[in-house]
Amino acid sequence: MADRDDRRERDAPVRDQVSGAEHDGIAASGFPILARTDFSEVTFLLEIHHPAMARAARPGQFVIFITHDRGERIPLTLADFDPAKGTVTVVVQAVGKTTRAMQRDCRQGSTIFGMVGPMGVPSRIGEASKVVCVGGGLGVAPIYPQARGFKQAGAYVIGVVGFRSRDLIFWEDKFRAVCDEFVICTDDGSAGIKGRVTDGVEAAIAKHSDIDEVIAIGPPIMMKACAETTRPHGIKTTVSLNPIMVDGTGMCGGCRVRVGGRIRFACVDGPDFDGHEVDFDDLMTRLRRFKQEEQAALERWTESCRRIDLEPAHPGGAGGA
Ligand SMILES: Cc1cc2nc3c(=O)[nH]c(=O)nc-3n(C[C@H](O)[C@H](O)[C@H](O)COP(=O)(O)OP(=O)(O)OC[C@H]3O[C@@H](n4cnc5c(N)ncnc54)[C@H](O)[C@@H]3O)c2cc1C
Ligand code: FES
Repeated sequence: MADRDDRRERDAPVRDQVSGAEHDGIAASGFPILARTDFSEVTFLLEIHHPAMARAARPGQFVIFITHDRGERIPLTLADFDPAKGTVTVVVQAVGKTTRAMQRDCRQGSTIFGMVGPMGVPSRIGEASKVVCVGGGLGVAPIYPQARGFKQAGAYVIGVVGFRSRDLIFWEDKFRAVCDEFVICTDDGSAGIKGRVTDGVEAAIAKHSDIDEVIAIGPPIMMKACAETTRPHGIKTTVSLNPIMVDGTGMCGGCRVRVGGRIRFACVDGPDFDGHEVDFDDLMTRLRRFKQEEQAALERWTESCRRIDLEPAHPGGAGGA
C-alpha cells in the first residue's frame, strides 16, 4: 500500500529506497533468511529463523513484515512453522512495490528487518471430524498448516488445491503426507481435475455426505465461490480474509470487513470468518481503494531501480578511478 512509509521512502536517498539489505541496521538486528525457493516468476518461499515466533505460531495466523528500516508493513500468512528448527515460512506473491522489492532483495543469507506476530486469532482446529481444506492461488501455502493441524487433531482431511498448470504445482508431497485425500485442480487440465477448486469441492461433497467444515484460503473471488458452492449444502465454511492492513492491532480500522451485517476488524477479530456471512463485494471494493497510489509507488520504485542500474559502478563516475 502506498502510505506514509512510502512518502518517507520517496524522500530518502535513492540507494536506500531500493535496497533495504544495504542498511547497516538490518545485518545487526534482522531475522536471518535460511532458505528461499522460487515456485514461479512471481511466487517465492522464505524460511526465516525466528525461534520465538515458531514456538508461538498457530495455524491461521499471520505475521507483519517490515523489510527495511523505512519499509511499510506487509501482512503475510504463516505457511509453515517448525518449533524444533526455530523457523517460520511464508510464501510471497510479488504484486506491488514492497513484495517486488522483497523478491529482489530477500535472499538466503540476508535478513528481514522486523517481524511482528504471530497475529490474528488462530483457526479453530479439532471441532470437526471431516474437513475439506481448499487453497487456491496464493492460498495454497497458507492452507497447509490448517490441513496438518486438522490431521494431527484426528480429523479426516480432504485437501483441494488449485493451480494454473502442472509446472506451478508445489508442496504436493507435503500435502499428501497430511491429507487422507488430495485433489489437484488445474485450469488447463495438465494435472488432476481440469477446472477450478470449486469443482474439487463439488466432487468431495458428492463423495462424502458427512463433511463438517470447508476451510478456504485464496483470492476473495475464489473464497466467495467456495462459500456459494457449500451454501446449498449447509456446510459450515470458514474463509481467511485479506483486507488491507496497516497496524494489525485493531487501532487503525484499515482492515474493516462486513460480516453478517456487522463491521469486524480482520486483524484482531479474524482473519478467519464465516464465509456465508462475509460481504465479499465490499472486501473486493476496499482492496481496490488505493490502486492509483499503489501503481504510482510501483512506478517510482521501478524508476529508482533503473537509476541505480545506470549509476556508475565506482563513485567518481565513468571517468573516475
Ligand atoms: C492477513 C493477510 C495475509 C496475507 N497473506 C499473504 C501471503 O501469505 N502471501 C502474499 O503474497 N500476500 C499475502 N497478503 C497480501 C499482501 O499483504 C499484499 O499483497 C502486500 O501487502 C502488497 O504490498 P505491495 O507493496 O507489494 O503491493 P501494492 O501495490 O501496495 O498492493 C497490491 C495489492 O495488495 C493489497 N495490499 C496492499 N497493501 C496491503 C496491506 N498493507 N495489507 C494487505 N493487503 C494489501 C491490495 O489489494 C493491493 O491492491 C496477505 C494479506 C493479509 C491481510
Ligand atoms: S489493520 Fe488496523 S485495525 Fe486492523
